[in-house]
Amino acid sequence: MDSVIKGEWIKTTKHMSELDFGQLNMSISTDRYTSPEFQARERELVWMKTWQIVGRADELANAGDWKTCQIFGQSYIIARGKDGKLRGFVNSCRHRGNALCQGKGNSPRLLCQYHLWSYGLDGKLIGVGRPDMVGPIDKAAHGLIEVPVDTALGFIFLNPDQNAKPLAEYLGKEVLEGLAPYKLDEMTPVGMDVREALNCNWKVVIDAFSEGYHIIGVHPELLSVIDPEAGKVWHGFYGDHGMAYSPFEVKNAQGAGLEEQVAGIHALPGTFPTVTEVLPRFDALVAAYRGADGKLAFPEGVTVRTLLQQATRETLSVKGLDVSGLTDEQMSDSQGWFLFPNFFMTIRAGEATVIMSVPHPDGDPNRCIWHVTAYMWLPPELRAPYRAELVEVKEPGSYPYFLALQQDYDQMERQQKGLRNAAFTSMTLAREEVSIARFHMVLDRYLAART
Ligand code: FES
Ligand SMILES: [Fe+2]
Repeated sequence: MDSVIKGEWIKTTKHMSELDFGQLNMSISTDRYTSPEFQARERELVWMKTWQIVGRADELANAGDWKTCQIFGQSYIIARGKDGKLRGFVNSCRHRGNALCQGKGNSPRLLCQYHLWSYGLDGKLIGVGRPDMVGPIDKAAHGLIEVPVDTALGFIFLNPDQNAKPLAEYLGKEVLEGLAPYKLDEMTPVGMDVREALNCNWKVVIDAFSEGYHIIGVHPELLSVIDPEAGKVWHGFYGDHGMAYSPFEVKNAQGAGLEEQVAGIHALPGTFPTVTEVLPRFDALVAAYRGADGKLAFPEGVTVRTLLQQATRETLSVKGLDVSGLTDEQMSDSQGWFLFPNFFMTIRAGEATVIMSVPHPDGDPNRCIWHVTAYMWLPPELRAPYRAELVEVKEPGSYPYFLALQQDYDQMERQQKGLRNAAFTSMTLAREEVSIARFHMVLDRYLAART
């Protein structure tokens, strides 16, 4: 691994024709999207057992920083100790259970406002209000209940299960090494960080972002840069997680003239806004191949795709991002990563979009909350000024998602409507939707576990 560019390992992914469909169930029962009983099993065997992203490490940068988070109605505190270490605690005072913290803050200790018991950032019980009224108490036995917390890729992960295996083991070497060269830990939310309740099961969101098949029906304008019919999607499955990607290129690159292909690259920012910053360098590279008669002619091995890759590499390098660990393909192509149970991300050199969904706290399996964040790599001094504020959408339909996301937003509720029809008992997956089949297989494995 060390002797090659880190991104090279991605070439071990498999084309659809090489995948073994024999083990996969391509028929999925629909009650898993609507049944309260099914959701109760998910709560116990998935949400209370897996590592989940609860924030970014730089949100709690300083000793004494803390915040609360909720996982399926359970409340936790994450705090950075004086030793710099992040720890997670159940948000219950050890006296009579009062929720200790709300929101976020910075303080040298955590004080319960009910009867003034106080805890260190390491969870230890420091003092109680009016000890004369309490009597003897074993402080060592009354620290906050700790839950595993760790960081990876710049995210804070929490696992409600005190016996969880370590995060690095859960994510696995392929995920950590495959994503490391992108420097996601140095990326900042820019432009969009939004959370909104949706009228669909949380898995409808995961399914929708696990396949490119719906581009033909839902995102027709993406067909100009992604050709799903070419069967060029590659898959890698790693533990409970997975990655898929398809090359990003101007449609019919072989059939179109060079000028048309260059025009195609210029049209990309309509769908991929960050390409805008690469265009000046791209144009300069193209201009070098224009003859005295103004005609474009590329030598062997040069294409608009290779020039886009070169322009991206150079533009990002000038910005200060070390792209030496990324392949040329990673300069142009987005990889779609799924981390079980609820994290989806498209990532390309210098930028990423993350989509997560969680069951709605009201317990209705027909509802969920999605959280969409656009990340961009920026030089350190620009990260704070450009950081997007979290927007909690209260009025459905009021947030201006970019076109492709709006199309998904509208589509997901339509699917849930159909899934709610009791006579429709199972859905059928196309081969293109193999990642959905894989996701449900992993989910079934968790649900079959005995506790
Ligand atoms: S419940 Fe926290 S001090 Fe009493
Ligand atoms: Fe979509």
